[in-house]
Order: sequence, then C-alpha cells, then structure tokens
Amino acid sequence: MTVERIGVLGAGVMGGAIAQVCATVGFDVVVYDIDSEALVAGKQHATTGRFGLDSGVERAKLTREDADAALARITFTEDFAAAAHTDLVIEAVPERLDLKIRVFRDLDAAAPPSTILCSNSSGFPIQALAAATDRPELVVGWHWASPAPVMKFAEIVRTRTTSDATVAVVIGAATQCGKHPVVVQDTPMAWGYVANRVYFAMVAEAQKIVNEGIATADDVDQLMTDCYRWPAGPFGMVKGAGSGWTAT
Ligand SMILES: NC(=O)c1ccc[n+]([C@@H]2O[C@H](COP(=O)([O-])OP(=O)(O)OC[C@H]3O[C@@H](n4cnc5c(N)ncnc54)[C@H](O)[C@@H]3O)[C@@H](O)[C@H]2O)c1
Repeated sequence: MTVERIGVLGAGVMGGAIAQVCATVGFDVVVYDIDSEALVAGKQHATTGRFGLDSGVERAKLTREDADAALARITFTEDFAAAAHTDLVIEAVPERLDLKIRVFRDLDAAAPPSTILCSNSSGFPIQALAAATDRPELVVGWHWASPAPVMKFAEIVRTRTTSDATVAVVIGAATQCGKHPVVVQDTPMAWGYVANRVYFAMVAEAQKIVNEGIATADDVDQLMTDCYRWPAGPFGMVKGAGSGWTAT
C-alpha cells in the first residue's frame, strides 16, 4: 500500500507540527480539529513558529518554494470526514483514553476500510484503541517527540493484532519523514511504551530528590545537564515538552 494522503486529528502542539513534517516530505495532509482557533494556531505554528517552515527557510533547511509547496499541501479543516478519507491517519488529540477510544470508533466508521489508524498517544495501550475498531490489524502506535520537525524519534508500537504489512507501511512513512523508526511491543499493563517509561522513572526520582530537600528543581536540572550533556534536565524537559519548546 502506498501512502499519499495523511489525516491528522488535532492541530495542537503535536498535530500541527506532525502535519508540517509530513507535508514537507511530500504527503498531502488534512488536519482536523474540533476547535477552529486551534486550526488557525496550528497553521501559524507550522508557518511562523519557532520550528515552522519559515524558520526552516531562514536556516537554509529548505527553499522558500519548498516551504510554500509544503504549506499548500496542508488542508486545515473542521470536516472530520475529510481527514478520515486518507490513506493513513495520525491521531493527536489530548491524552485521555476515553476521548481516544471515541475518536478511533468514529474513525473506523468514517475511514475507508484500508486506512491505517495511528495514535500519537504518549502511553495508552494501543490495543484499547484497536479494540474500538473493526480493523485491529490496521491500528498501530506512531509516537512522535516534540518538536516534531526536529526530533528523529519514531516509536512504532505494535499490538498483538497489528499486521506486519501495517508496521511496514508506517516504518516507510516515518522514514520518509526523516525519522528513525524503532518497533516496540504494546504494553497493555503499563502507561508508556519504552521512552516514556524510562523518562518518567527518571522524573519521579528527580521529584523525590526535591521533596526530600536534597536539591531544588533548578539545581537538579543543572546537575543533569552538566553531567550527561542533556539539552535539558528532567524538570526543564517536562516544561519544554508541554509548550512544544517554544519558550526555551
Ligand atoms: N506535547 C508533547 O510533547 C507530546 C509528545 C508526544 C506525544 N504527545 C501526545 O500527543 C497527543 C496530543 O498532544 P498535544 O500536546 O499536541 O495536545 P494539545 O492539547 O496541544 O492539542 C490537542 C488538540 O486536539 C484537539 N482536539 C480535542 N478533541 C478533539 C477531537 N475529538 N478531534 C480532533 N481534535 C480534538 C484540541 O482542540 C487541541 O487543538 C497526546 O496524546 C499527547 O500525549 C505529546
């Protein structure tokens, strides 16, 4: 199966940036959001945001013509069916399991039978989303990192029902997006796949250190960046991820 048209659900921190990346590498993209203001903001971030197309031109990552062509490939819409009628949909609505299950049920009803349904969930069991559909073999996790135009991260989460063909198509799309896809197994008994399980264990320990009065959050961040050459410490990471790294 060839992916030409990608639907993105949610035009927030992740959805807008994911759409930008997909359009930059040649996919036609339809971004849907329930909130018209989010669609306007998502388009703005993809264009003039810190990691948007304009800054890509300024940093000579792409030409003005390529940036304009990428933007022209993205449709921002309040029409759910338009986003569902694509080859592959990436769901990036807020991290609430009930909401994602509802969205997958609606997607299954609206999308053509061959459409692959991906979730950018940070950690919910992908099997729970697959179970809301009649196409569990076409449901897979495609977990991105923020800022999506910069980070190579692509955690491809396969359930026990995801087909090999689906995994191959998503690996292909992620590779075309310039990412380094790594396939991992779904974890129905825990929140988080690989990256977030390790990351949140580290954040929990950092918070324990602050609660015990051993060091302040700023000092923990300073020590960790100095010791490991990380771009941000555990608390800075939490703040940065929440804002899409726009304020740092
Ligand atoms: N922010 C990050 O660093 C990050 C990184 C990786 C994964 N994620 C995951 O990506 C998903 C989205 O996170 P975000 O940070 O972009 O959230 P966000 O709040 O910035 O954006 C979510 C968008 O979804 C829209 N929305 C709400 N209900 C909707 C619906 N039913 N249909 C379509 N759109 C709807 C909202 O209006 C909003 O614009 C979450 O599952 C999150 O855990 C986030």
